Amino acid sequence: MTTTIQRAAPRDAHDIDAILRACFPRPAEAMLVKQLAIDGDLVLALIARDEASGAAAGIVALSRMHVAIGPESVPAVALAPLAVLPAYRQTGVAEALVRAAIDEMTRAGALLMFVLGEPGFYGRFGFSAATAEGFDSPYAGQYLLALELQGGLPCGARGLADHAPAFAALGESD
Ligand SMILES: CC(C)(COP(=O)(O)OP(=O)(O)OC[C@H]1O[C@@H](n2cnc3c(N)ncnc32)[C@H](O)[C@@H]1OP(=O)(O)O)[C@@H](O)C(=O)NCCC(=O)NCCS
Repeated sequence: MTTTIQRAAPRDAHDIDAILRACFPRPAEAMLVKQLAIDGDLVLALIARDEASGAAAGIVALSRMHVAIGPESVPAVALAPLAVLPAYRQTGVAEALVRAAIDEMTRAGALLMFVLGEPGFYGRFGFSAATAEGFDSPYAGQYLLALELQGGLPCGARGLADHAPAFAALGESD
């Protein structure tokens, strides 16, 4: 099955919600994306569609973060959630979504992208815990990963990295 990746439009909201509800054991991720949109923090959502049928196969969302190094604000985004329907897994759809997200955010001028996820998967794109570890965050730890865009940050940059407020509800539903 071949898929193509498009920027999601408002008419894709139902497909995005359905994918997230099918891929995660709880509705929190679907509610996260809705809340990010309501709050104006959703920067971009990309949707992978089956080229033959047009069916939605996967999505990735990018949201605004508040990141600062000393007094300087740094344009940064969080990549979450990422989901691919079971029928389309293990064929590179998630990888294509992440690569497209990195390209779009690089073009948009972001300097940093954070993700909370498996280093084994995200390491292939250059995300690392070492890049994230200089930043204070409630999610700090081995699964908080960051990728420097635009050629990187000053060596040893330290600061704070706050996800959009909608993320606070994710922990509450555990
Ligand atoms: C995690 C998830 C997004 C991965 O989606 P996916 O489309 O299967 O991912 P990919 O196919 O891009 O990569 C997965 C594996 O397939 C491999 N792969 C990539 N292209 C491939 C291809 N053309 N043929 C075969 N395998 C391929 C990758 O190397 C990867 O292997 P590895 O991770 O075991 O090393 C999906 O399983 C999912 O939605 N899970 C539930 C929600 C979730 O946990 N989301 C992530 C946290 S936000």
